[in-house]
Amino acid sequence: MTAALEIKGLQAWYGESHVLHGVDLVVQPGEVVTLLGRNGAGRTTTMRAVMGLTGARKGSIRVNGVETIAMATHRIAHLGIGYCPEERGIFASLSCEENLLLPPELKGAGPGMSVDEIYAMFPNLAERRHSQGTRLSGGEQQMLAVARILRTGAKLLLLDEISEGLAPVIVQALARMITTLRAKGYTIVMVEQNFRFAAPLADRFYVMEHGRIALTFGAAELEARMPVLTELLGV
Ligand SMILES: Nc1ncnc2c1ncn2[C@@H]1O[C@H](COP(=O)(O)OP(=O)(O)OP(=O)(O)O)[C@@H](O)[C@H]1O
Ligand SMILES: [Mg+2]
Repeated sequence: MTAALEIKGLQAWYGESHVLHGVDLVVQPGEVVTLLGRNGAGRTTTMRAVMGLTGARKGSIRVNGVETIAMATHRIAHLGIGYCPEERGIFASLSCEENLLLPPELKGAGPGMSVDEIYAMFPNLAERRHSQGTRLSGGEQQMLAVARILRTGAKLLLLDEISEGLAPVIVQALARMITTLRAKGYTIVMVEQNFRFAAPLADRFYVMEHGRIALTFGAAELEARMPVLTELLGV
């Protein structure tokens, strides 16, 4: 089986600053993988490097078998990747629905979710469809940011700290969303600080430290790995 995402020996820089020092990470189609680590470990940079949004990159990043290390960001996205950055990028002056309809469908990917499917999955967004971006709550903005990606047809989702700063009831809704997307066959890489949110959702875990993968294990090993996780994450 061709991996949805296969990263080998990835190094990345921001200008002169060398941030990733050889990241190895594999995600199979349909898997939910969580990237854990302390602040500054390099998790966001790993996602940005996959999208071609850092400075120089070295190593190999294959998306559905296609080498992307020398590709421009727009071409990488068209391989069917949806990146949801921490800052969400909801346009304040546009309505919820205008935000949703903004990005075009990706050429390389299959059809995206229809607006009806999206509203069935996110009833809050259906209710708020005519509300301005700024009027949406943090949770609604986060759902909109993910929903917007689903409309493009992306099947590999890179989600950076989607649960951050949100109320527990919203975090629960996001957890149900991940479970639903997994059941629909999406492949998901989540960066998470909120271990309680990530733990029950992930098939496999990667822990980053100083720009490298320090530890990787499957969900079945989670309990046995808790002592070393506690040490690495300081949770
Ligand atoms: N634009 C940038 N220019 C230079 N250095 C950066 C830039 N963005 C991040 N860094 C540095 O790269 C390292 C990794 O940062 P990154 O954002 O990937 O961490 P992270 O694991 O996502 O943690 P967190 O989100 O909690 O900060 C940090 O030392 C950070 O200071
Ligand atoms: Mg980050």
